[in-house]
Formats: sequence, C-alpha cells, structure tokens
Amino acid sequence: MRTKKTATVLSAALLLLLQLCTPAALALDQDVPPKNDVPPPNDVPPPPKPVNNTPLDVALTQFALNLEYLEAEFFLFAAYGYGLDVKAPQLTGGGPPPYGAQKANLDPVANDIVGQMGLQEVGHIRVIRSSIGPAAFPRPQLDISKASFAKAVDNALNTTLDPPFDPYANSINYFLASYIIPYVGLTGYVGANPQLTGTAAKKLVAGLLGVEAGQDAIIRTWLYERKDQKVDPYGVTVAEVTDVISKLRNNLDYEGLLAVNKGPVPYVTDDEGLTVPQYLGAEQSTTGNILSADADSLSYPRTPEQILPIIYNSGSPYVPGGFYPLGARGRIAEQYHKYGGDT
Ligand SMILES: *[C@@H]1O[C@H](CO)[C@@H](O)[C@H](O)[C@H]1NC(C)=O
Repeated sequence: MRTKKTATVLSAALLLLLQLCTPAALALDQDVPPKNDVPPPNDVPPPPKPVNNTPLDVALTQFALNLEYLEAEFFLFAAYGYGLDVKAPQLTGGGPPPYGAQKANLDPVANDIVGQMGLQEVGHIRVIRSSIGPAAFPRPQLDISKASFAKAVDNALNTTLDPPFDPYANSINYFLASYIIPYVGLTGYVGANPQLTGTAAKKLVAGLLGVEAGQDAIIRTWLYERKDQKVDPYGVTVAEVTDVISKLRNNLDYEGLLAVNKGPVPYVTDDEGLTVPQYLGAEQSTTGNILSADADSLSYPRTPEQILPIIYNSGSPYVPGGFYPLGARGRIAEQYHKYGGDT
C-alpha cells in the first residue's frame, strides 16, 4: 500500500513539473522583464478613499440607537437583573431607566445566551454613540414591563389572555418576547444599507447587521426546536405565536406606511413565523421557516416609517406607545412625533 501511494504522489509531482515546463509556461516566464526593470504595478487598485458620512447616514444610524437601547435593557435585565445603569452608566446619556425591567426566570443555557446578547448591545450602543458624536441622544424612556409585552401578544392573538402573557415567567415566554425585538432591528439595517453613502456608516451598519441577524437566528433556532410545544397555559404552540406576531408586524408596518403616505400602499409580507405555507418557504419547497426571508432568501428591508408603528404597537409613526411611551428619539423619529410631546 505504502509503495503504491508513494508512487502516486511521485507521478503527480512529475506531472506538475511537466506542466510547468510546457512551452506556454516557459513563454509566459520570458514575458516577465528582468527584475531590475520591473515598473511599479499599476493595475493594483489604490486603497479606497474614505467617503464622509452624509447627514442621512447620521440620521439613519441615530435612528438605530433607539432599538439598540431597547435590546440592551431587555437582554441585560433578563440575564443579570440590572441594565445599562449598572453595566455602562455613561452610555445612558442621563436618560431615564426603563419601566418594568426585571430578571427573567431563565434556564442556565438561556440565561447565558441572553446575557451574551445583552453585552453585545452595550458595544453597539457605545460604537453608535461615538460614531454619531453630538447626534447621540440620551436613552429614551422604555417600557419593557410585563404589561407592555402582554399587550403586544394580546394584539397579535386578537384576544385578551388570562392570565396575561408574562415575558419573564420562563425561557419559552422570554424567547417568544425576544422574537419581537432583534428582527425589527435587523430589517431596519437591511433597509438603511442602500441609503448609506459614507464609508464609516456602511462599515458600522454592516457590522451591526451581522450581529443582529445572528441574534435573530439564535432566537429563532431556539424556538424552532420547541415549535410544537404549548405555551402554557394558553393551549397555543410556539410556532403559532410566532406566526401571529409576524402577521401583526406585517399589519402594523403596512398601517404605518398608509399613515405616512396618505395614499394607496401595496401590502407586502416582510415578516414570517417559524412555519409558513410552502410558497413562502425557501425555494417554495418547505414549510419550515428557520429564517424570515424573501423569495431569494434575502432578509426583508424596512424603513423607519415601517419600524415606528411596530415598536409603538400603534400602527402609526405619529402615535407613540408600546415600548416607547414617550416616542423614539432623533431626527427621523421626531419628524413624526416629538419625543415626550403631545400625542
Ligand atoms: C378579532 O376578534 C374580533 C372579536 O372576536 C373579531 O370581530 C375580529 O374580526 C378579529 N380580528 C381579526 C383581525 O381577526
């Protein structure tokens, strides 16, 4: 066996040598001028010149800060029982602590996962704040109370659950509540990307998108493994709850566009639960839907005008509520509603 193998290796090496010595290879060799006369290569592109961020770049990045604050507080509190005020108080910019934040009753693996995601959001807030400088606003008032999530789930199921849905009661409820959040940020980054001009803004948003998409995938995979389990005590399955939450977000972002455009708007599906009719699955070939994506399996984009009505749970960027009782902050959000102003 050994001899045979050695022979094979030897003949392969010989073959290679022969190929290198073919007339073509030799001719190519002769085309190369002597070393001393080699001119500096002029077909190597120069390093790309950095392009400055535009005001729109800053506004879009600033808009994302609203969502990063929400994720940071929700994940950090759930895993550690404290949030930014303890972990990174300088990043709050003096904004008020969230309403109703608390430790979640998570199993050890879930707690570990959620804790890591919370810490990732700290970095996101730090880098966004430093990249937009004076456009960085303080943490907005957030409402991540049980009641806030219960209302969203009631809205999704078109019912009033009794007892009310408690996002902090157990790992399944917490991951279902988490299903509501990073996916919205992800679609926002996909939507913002083609609008960006500056090199730094593009780099930042690509980096943020990568990790948000990763978080969404972790949450969805965790839930997918439990998709047929019942959400106690309501008798509906995990997959069914994700489906109605996605349907609700499809409706809310459509209503938001209607409110802003004041004219006909096509209804688009940009949000899909863990199981779908086959025509929505990857290559229309599966009802399993581990990721929410379009016909080419690309992530769906959303504009701020589609995101605000979802995170306000109101169907309108003009009407704050939901996770942002005083509204979101920054140039884009405050075009529709001044933070803390009258509704
Ligand atoms: C929600 O429930 C109400 C009352 O049961 C019903 O009339 C309404 O059609 C439902 N809405 C949707 C969107 O299913």
